[in-house]
Amino acid sequence: MLKTIFNCTMYVCLCKGVSDRAIRGCIRRGAGTVGAVGAECGAGTDCGSCRGMIADLIEEEQEQSGVHMHLPVLASQLA
Ligand code: FES
Repeated sequence: MLKTIFNCTMYVCLCKGVSDRAIRGCIRRGAGTVGAVGAECGAGTDCGSCRGMIADLIEEEQEQSGVHMHLPVLASQLA
């Protein structure tokens, strides 16, 4: 889990220069997958090494908001 430490901003995606704060903003505006975050701000769309951290941020934001968006995974498992 990526917990905010000392309320500071960190770069999550170095390739695109996107901070955790910017990614959290994308998630709060509705980006519920790594791909959706990438489509909105570009994070995770180059080398891909940050995609795990983006996924952690999505999970963390969804836990904090009480929203859980695992339905696409569940739907693919049922198909
Ligand atoms: S660090 Fe995010 S795509 Fe490379």
